[in-house]
Amino acid sequence: MAVLEVVTFPHPVLKQKCAAVTRFDAELHQFLDDMAQTMQGADGIGLAANQVGVAQRVFLMDVPTNRGSGEKDVKTTGRIEVINPKIVSLRGEMKYEEGCLSFPGMSEFVTRAAEVDLEYQDRTGAVQRLTAKGLVAVCIQHELDHLDGITFIDRLSPFKRKIALREYLRQNREAIDDQAMREKLRTRRAQRSVG
Ligand code: CO
Repeated sequence: MAVLEVVTFPHPVLKQKCAAVTRFDAELHQFLDDMAQTMQGADGIGLAANQVGVAQRVFLMDVPTNRGSGEKDVKTTGRIEVINPKIVSLRGEMKYEEGCLSFPGMSEFVTRAAEVDLEYQDRTGAVQRLTAKGLVAVCIQHELDHLDGITFIDRLSPFKRKIALREYLRQNREAIDDQAMREKLRTRRAQRSVG
């Protein structure tokens, strides 16, 4: 297993609409294992494939189900690998203060559906169904948005987004410049190997 690099806003892959997975092979399984290690290492409860630079319709989640009842006995959903997800129905409304591994230091209240019926494929390609509410439902909607190139700041009012982004850019200037520089070098190297 390997820890993958998590890209941060404004990396262009976060704006990309991800492509459906068609091959449920060893390569996919390796990628899912790497994503799991990456998510765990980053202390995340969800991670979408394009957050590690792979524009495919895959996300992982491992969500606390008894948050607030003490650190020691935190129960979670366990790791759920979600491939080619489709929301079947949404019910109700809830507000939750979300964060995102691609926006270090930022947390904002987002309004989403309180309950979700989800259909997806597991790592073998078998179709699975899941009904979720609360934080699990929030996580599903947040991660599925990623696969459509939508990040949680896109769910804020234009005014709140502007304020939040200004603060984010102020706090992360250096890391953003470093990431852009690495990306430029990578592109240049790739062009050289082609030409
Ligand atoms: Co996110």
